[in-house]
Amino acid sequence: MFTFCHDDDSQRRLAFSASLIAVLPVIYLVYRKVFATNQGPSRNSPAGSSNSTAASLAAQGQAPNAQKRETKSIMQPAKTDLAPPKDDPFTLEQLKEFNGSDPTKPIYVSIKGTVFDVSHKNDVYGAGKSYNVFAGTDGSRGLGMSSLKLEDAVPDYSVLDEKDMKTLNDWHDFFKKRYNIVGRVTDLPLTVVPPNL
Ligand SMILES: *[C@@H]1O[C@H](CO)[C@@H](O)[C@H](O)[C@H]1NC(C)=O
Ligand SMILES: *[C@@H]1O[C@H](CO)[C@@H](O)[C@H](O)[C@H]1NC(C)=O
Repeated sequence: MFTFCHDDDSQRRLAFSASLIAVLPVIYLVYRKVFATNQGPSRNSPAGSSNSTAASLAAQGQAPNAQKRETKSIMQPAKTDLAPPKDDPFTLEQLKEFNGSDPTKPIYVSIKGTVFDVSHKNDVYGAGKSYNVFAGTDGSRGLGMSSLKLEDAVPDYSVLDEKDMKTLNDWHDFFKKRYNIVGRVTDLPLTVVPPNL
């Protein structure tokens, strides 16, 4: 029961609450600082393809427009522990299986025919999430247009203008630094198949 007595105990409790209130903002700031540091170069310092310059470029300058809106969830440092890229063939039909609807399966996103495993970002690409439209398919056109519309999430990016093409290529670079490549799409529309394939 709560009483208004001024015994030692309640004073100690009051003092404790007061100090907690004083300390909380500090804890928050320290947490923010540590967190921000983790997001930044320090996590990328182990020898690898990226260094702090490359990492911060990726996090700022090279970040495609569309993803600025999703800063919190999509922004993440480049990974230095990526597996060697795989070259497994996928048809667009086979990719559908990996659209995030089955939680026991990985989630794949294809960009310009490169298939990335985005399973660890299921909060972004999973079923019902903002970028799920790109899961289990190649939605290169929509990525280039910064469009989340289902009808834009198609592989034929040949219609993109120069600016949107740059956005699409930025996405490809961004993914290459963060997600394992698990294969490639073998039946892209002829309009976007590179001549040497
Ligand atoms: C870091 O990466 C950038 C871009 O890849 C490169 O130009 C620079 O020389 C690198 N710096 C170091 C210290 O490796
Ligand atoms: C995902 O794929 C499953 C099985 O292929 C399908 O039933 C479901 O409708 C798809 N979901 C979306 C959002 O496309």
